[in-house]
Amino acid sequence: MYINLGLIGSPLNHTFSPFIHNYFLYKSSLCGGYTCYDISIEELEETIMMFQKFHFKGVNVTVPYKQEVMQFCSELDITAKSIGAVNTLHFTDNGIIGHNTDIFGFYMMLETSGINTLNKKVLLLGAGGASRAVIPYLLMNKPEYFLIANRTLEKAEDLSLLYEDDIDICRPDDLQGLEFDIVINTTSMGVNGEPYTDYGFKIKEAAVDMIYRPQMTSFLSLYSKDNIKLVNGLAMLIYQAAGSFNIWTGCDIIPDMEYFYKAVYK
Ligand code: ATR
Repeated sequence: MYINLGLIGSPLNHTFSPFIHNYFLYKSSLCGGYTCYDISIEELEETIMMFQKFHFKGVNVTVPYKQEVMQFCSELDITAKSIGAVNTLHFTDNGIIGHNTDIFGFYMMLETSGINTLNKKVLLLGAGGASRAVIPYLLMNKPEYFLIANRTLEKAEDLSLLYEDDIDICRPDDLQGLEFDIVINTTSMGVNGEPYTDYGFKIKEAAVDMIYRPQMTSFLSLYSKDNIKLVNGLAMLIYQAAGSFNIWTGCDIIPDMEYFYKAVYK
């Protein structure tokens, strides 16, 4: 049976997902294909109906439709509910199930880098969509101290309210002179290679960025001379894809990260 997979979002010019999933299909000896649909919001419903009509098995969802697609799901799994966004649609006989594998991707990114937030001082930079995958991980691996810094303070406040615990919030300008064990960048600053603002805080153990291009991102380059772990977002991208692929096909992929590092950076 041919396995139809795809991606919806906009823009999709720089997506790496077809490369990843077509490789997963090949590695699993499955016959199928993964294609991109750069659509407008007006085309969303008809595109999802088209997926059903042509018996698609699964579709990834990226910005700006991760929330919009939820209305078309007959069921949301616990990860999609806890994040409030769907990145994976699974077309089943019981309807469309919405999942979110970003939490798994983030978890695996830290796990494979030997980073654990348990009892550490952790700073989360940003309070947009990308920050949502960090929250469930921190619920499991509770830091000793947790601070969210965001340019728009109200968004940091909304995010902090997802926790039962008290979480401090501040603006990035208030971070001058502070010290953290682990800092996680989820802002989009640096996504086009522009420099990251140095807010003057120190990092003792690890700088983690959700951006993965270039390999040394603008945020990570600020700490390249410090003796700390520098982790970009490629592992998160690959592992969230492996999570989606597992939901659609039942195949448990162990991604060959060496292969992907070479493919993306060499
Ligand atoms: P995403 O879904 O990628 O997280 P988003 O929801 O638009 O995108 O969030 C982008 C995040 O990057 C936000 O936290 C944003 O801060 P604001 O909430 O104040 O907008 C942050 N961000 C983007 N550009 C920034 C910049 N130049 N300086 C500081 N923060 C920035």
